[in-house]
Amino acid sequence: MALLEISNLTVTIPTPHGIVHAVNSADLCLDYGQTVALVGESGSGKSMTARSIMGLIPASGSIESGSIRFDGQELANLPEKELRLLRGNRIAMIFQEPMTSLNPVLKIGDQVMEPLLLHRRLDKQAARTEALELLQQVGIPSPEQRINDYPHQLSGGQRQRVMIAMALACNPQLLIADEPTTALDVTIQAQILELIDQLRRDKGLALLLITHDLGIVAQRADRVHVMYAGQIVETAATDQLLNNPLHPYTRGLLASLPENALPGQPLATIPGQPPRLDKPIIGCPFKDRCPDVKPVCFEQMPAELDKGNGHLVKCWNYLL
Ligand SMILES: Nc1ncnc2c1ncn2[C@@H]1O[C@H](COP(=O)(O)OP(=O)(O)OP(=O)(O)O)[C@@H](O)[C@H]1O
Ligand SMILES: [Mg+2]
Repeated sequence: MALLEISNLTVTIPTPHGIVHAVNSADLCLDYGQTVALVGESGSGKSMTARSIMGLIPASGSIESGSIRFDGQELANLPEKELRLLRGNRIAMIFQEPMTSLNPVLKIGDQVMEPLLLHRRLDKQAARTEALELLQQVGIPSPEQRINDYPHQLSGGQRQRVMIAMALACNPQLLIADEPTTALDVTIQAQILELIDQLRRDKGLALLLITHDLGIVAQRADRVHVMYAGQIVETAATDQLLNNPLHPYTRGLLASLPENALPGQPLATIPGQPPRLDKPIIGCPFKDRCPDVKPVCFEQMPAELDKGNGHLVKCWNYLL
């Protein structure tokens, strides 16, 4: 049994323009202690997938169908009270922008202590000692002084470190990192990713790493899921995906990595835009941007094909 098994997950959000299918029949599997990456362009449904696991989709939205099994327990449509017990406890999440998740009027020490007091029921003194220890572990210098700081007194990288300390406070089994470094400059990005990876190894966590950057994936993930327009279009072990990408979208993503640019040539990009998700998509969602498009791509969504060793792809090129 895997730690996390998402199957056939569909998440919808009604809007004035139509029903947004933010996640559409997605499957995702994560083993104990493994790092799995979820990659895709902005708006492809990565955060909504992560939020479904945490029971944090927008109030108007719903899990239309599918299953999310965590350590054998079904989470889809679990009552809020039970989800709250899991959240921040056995499953923790680091969000895209730490400023929106930290409380601006509370000292960072109090924020790191909160889950320790609430979930682990430590007394105040023990929680303070442990908070200092956690801040030390995530690389906050002089924690005894910084514990009294407010979030605005920290740099972006330090704020993200505090978020990581909070996420780890209850020894979760699963850590979801949703683009944990987008708001940071490149050097700090690398430091934060290294920190997350090191803590993951030390504590034996499983990590769901969400990013739009395949370069990050190459170094960190065991397996990759490529998401496009709410659907998982390709899944494989990381080296397989990078060395033998099958889906034209994955190939486009790889070609647009700066390290794959030819000297003197402009960076490759994928022309066009992803489709709107508030209208039904007929056929393959990538058809309008695909260099290998065929008439059938406009008619029907391709079925998922297993190309061996768990390398799964949804593309008509391999079915005809
Ligand atoms: N509150 C909402 N109401 C309606 N639609 C929404 C809402 N939140 C998100 N969506 C839509 O759901 C889709 C998936 O959004 P999601 O935030 O999961 O994308 P993402 O892959 O995380 O993108 P990014 O890389 O920009 O964070 C998007 O098309 C978005 O427009
Ligand atoms: Mg997102």
